[in-house]
Amino acid sequence: MIGANDKFSKIGFVLAMAGSAVGLGNAWKFPTMVGNNGGSAFIILYLALTFCVAFVAFLGEAAIGKLGESDLVHSLFKLAPKHKKQWSLAGFFMIGAVLIASFYMVVIGWILYYIIISFGSLPADTSAAGALFGGLISSDITSVVLCFSAVFFVVFYIVSRGIKNGIERLNIWMMPTLFVLLLLMLFYSFTFGEGFLKAAQFLFVPNFSKISGELVLQALGLAFFSLSMGVGAVPTYAASLPDGTNLIKSTLSIIFINIFIGLMMGLVVFTFIFAYGADTAQSGPGLIFVSLTTLFAKLGIVGNILAICFFVSLLFAGITSAISMIEPFAFYLINQFKFTRAKALVLIGIFTYILGIFSALSFYAPTADSFSLFGKSVFDALDYLTSNIMMPVGAIIFSFFVGFVLNKEALNILLGRFMGRAFFELWYFAIRYVVPVAICAIGIYQIVG
Ligand code: PFF
Repeated sequence: MIGANDKFSKIGFVLAMAGSAVGLGNAWKFPTMVGNNGGSAFIILYLALTFCVAFVAFLGEAAIGKLGESDLVHSLFKLAPKHKKQWSLAGFFMIGAVLIASFYMVVIGWILYYIIISFGSLPADTSAAGALFGGLISSDITSVVLCFSAVFFVVFYIVSRGIKNGIERLNIWMMPTLFVLLLLMLFYSFTFGEGFLKAAQFLFVPNFSKISGELVLQALGLAFFSLSMGVGAVPTYAASLPDGTNLIKSTLSIIFINIFIGLMMGLVVFTFIFAYGADTAQSGPGLIFVSLTTLFAKLGIVGNILAICFFVSLLFAGITSAISMIEPFAFYLINQFKFTRAKALVLIGIFTYILGIFSALSFYAPTADSFSLFGKSVFDALDYLTSNIMMPVGAIIFSFFVGFVLNKEALNILLGRFMGRAFFELWYFAIRYVVPVAICAIGIYQIVG
């Protein structure tokens, strides 16, 4: 159970959940996918899927947390009318969040490194920028490990302070700061005139010929990753929700903030890219660590300031997400074994740290061959296992649980009063049938595609 003094405030919940959602996914998965898929058609598709599928499933996961008011394993145990033990096992999908944290913090470490170098001179052309990034991950293991370790200690320190004094407090200043930094960069992008217009056109004028079945599934996968679903983050935060919160309104705010920040990041990134004629189809790390850095270098001192703002906003987005990956399992260990928070975090920390180092070593040239799994680097294998397997499977199990196992009247009391009977029935239908079909389609595509 959760003491009243370790529950979120209403705004704290929205910011913490938005902090979990807004992360590295918004910064590079979203702009990269938009860039590779011709822009706005992808955004429209993404918005439609977010509202028709991800929103529905998100409310279901939040309902498990709020009705169970415990960690995911114990909530499922408490809420299942029968086969309690079997259902509670599904709670272990939250290990997926710990696995994500291990490689995710390595990337946040790279971002920290780029903040530091943004105080000096940035690489002036693409080949120098490519060499800098390639050199960092493949030969400068000391910097990678130091930056990863710094991020690791900050994240674990915040989680060690608990929901109210750690997670809520951090999100309450980091999320608005992130927003202000992005807003400043957006204002600056306006001054690029044509570059900004091209970026806006690229992001907002639809080109439906790009939409294919495959794209639908990729967009859905991104929506789930971006909303931190299927691995326990949503139910865990929702368990600390104050009574009487309008979950519909909170969820809509979270989704809105997530999309809005994704679009702001997209506008900023593509304005720079268009203004300097760089390639829009560059992927992930290439877009941010290579293309953008060279563009910042062209702007002299303003570029340094912009680079610092940009990488600090990514750092904040990453940290607020990483803490939401650690809290679910820590909360379980505390409840199940009566561990102190510190002890639970030391255990999770050892595991996460070792895996993080393995991920870093899987890019380091002298050890890369030894740190590969199923023909992929440890980093890519963990990303694949979590994003493509654990998150969708977890999300489908939780939706099934809400749609077919959980007491409908309890859901109606929690949600129905804020959405009205007709909408409640529509939502209930969608969580039973639309969400599982959509996720199964992603699953099958991931396996055979
Ligand atoms: N939503 C985060 C992002 O877009 O970067 C990633 C994430 C956070 C995944 C929390 C899973 C999680 F539990």
